[in-house]
Amino acid sequence: MSDRRDAALAYAQDHNQDFLNKMKELISIPSVSTDPERAGEIKKAAKWLENELTELGMTRVEIFETPRHPIVYAEDLSAGPDAPTALVYGHYDVQPEDPIDEWNSDPFSPTIEGENLYARGSTDMKGQIIACFSALESIRETGNLPINIKFLIEGEEEIGGSYIEKFIKDNKELLACDFFLNPDTGMQAPDLPTITYALRGIAYFELRIQGPKQDMHSGTFGGAVHNPAQVMTDLLSGLHDDKGRVAINGFYDRVKPLDAEEREELSKLPINDDFFKEQAGVKALFGEEGYSSVERTGARPTLEINGLYSGFIDEGQKTVLPAYAMAKVSCRLVADQDPVEVYELFKSYLADNAPETVTWELTQMSKDFPSLSDRKSKWIDAYVQAAEAAWGKRPIFKREGGSVPVVVHIQQNLGVDSVNIGFGLPSDNMHGPNEKIHLPTFTKGVEALIHFFLNL
Ligand code: BES
Ligand code: MN
Repeated sequence: MSDRRDAALAYAQDHNQDFLNKMKELISIPSVSTDPERAGEIKKAAKWLENELTELGMTRVEIFETPRHPIVYAEDLSAGPDAPTALVYGHYDVQPEDPIDEWNSDPFSPTIEGENLYARGSTDMKGQIIACFSALESIRETGNLPINIKFLIEGEEEIGGSYIEKFIKDNKELLACDFFLNPDTGMQAPDLPTITYALRGIAYFELRIQGPKQDMHSGTFGGAVHNPAQVMTDLLSGLHDDKGRVAINGFYDRVKPLDAEEREELSKLPINDDFFKEQAGVKALFGEEGYSSVERTGARPTLEINGLYSGFIDEGQKTVLPAYAMAKVSCRLVADQDPVEVYELFKSYLADNAPETVTWELTQMSKDFPSLSDRKSKWIDAYVQAAEAAWGKRPIFKREGGSVPVVVHIQQNLGVDSVNIGFGLPSDNMHGPNEKIHLPTFTKGVEALIHFFLNL
């Protein structure tokens, strides 16, 4: 077995540059899922994956069309029914590249600087997909694949309301597996291998407040007509109390409290308030009273204003009383909160607090449940050992504040759990300008995955 391992690891070492070139190819395709003008690029990325998976030796590769962006499926079940089957997840779509002026290099021309490769989609998550492909290639090119592999790679993770849930419901047999491998998560630091055992859910809303029938002169009408921007800010500011808690009635009713044991474990993680301050470049932190930053982002729900618009925002001045105001607001949810119930609660808040001077409309976009995963399973054990082999360290177990909606759909419909491991870093500028992937961590990640697949 050790020869087998050594051969695969040696192959990976020899082919690191080839893996990087593959990564660059995929990243160069601007597959921004929210942009209708880039639907062609999305198709191109799906095709690229189809081709790559075929070259990897998958025995069945198929693109499934959906009402929006295609899902790429592949499998190689030649290890036979006695070997375990892993369903490996990926999303080939990326976030928009704006604000474009803040990038130091073209977002879709992968640029290496020092130990990092800069490009949109590098860490989230094309680099992670390539890490999985590279590990499998290293094993296959030096022997047989000891496990059955299925790939499920979607093109609309970043836009919410994705079709993946229906696809999983409709294709339970196709996707049947022993466990789910989700590399769309990260590590706490280059020397801290990490297993993520909780992901927050998300309820995303657009709130529109309508005032006068059109923009009005702010002198002629201001004072007599309620300004919808004023109403919006009043309503938004009422959404938190002075203890940093979300002030929507019933919001916390279903939140599972942290038990003393888990709090103790989380407090021992090598992540402190300074880390959050430093990463964000802020002078002081903010959050729910009585909880650490690790708890606030991982185990407690939050409400964020993601965007705000009303009236005149161009250069110069315009004395206008705007017709409407709009805000994008989202809640990150923890077990056992329900995103649709949160929508109803938010509507009640608006019904109780919005003045009669305006009308309002709240539409829900994302409605994804939070997930909790097993921290003790043979799949987790296999990764613990793999991480120990690659980094010489036991991985830490953490809760993630971000969301990967597919995990819950898999748990609910296929009845298997998810191993959430990936090689992104908090400093990778995910969703922001100058997104990057740390190449030494990618290389270690490939190594860890080789160990992982062989441990199974
Ligand atoms: N890879 C991220 C989730 C993530 C973030 C994992 C940070 C680990 C660390 C994923 O692609 C993502 O951004 N998800 C969206 C989902 C939403 C659009 C429904 C998110 O969390 O905002
Ligand atoms: Mn993302």
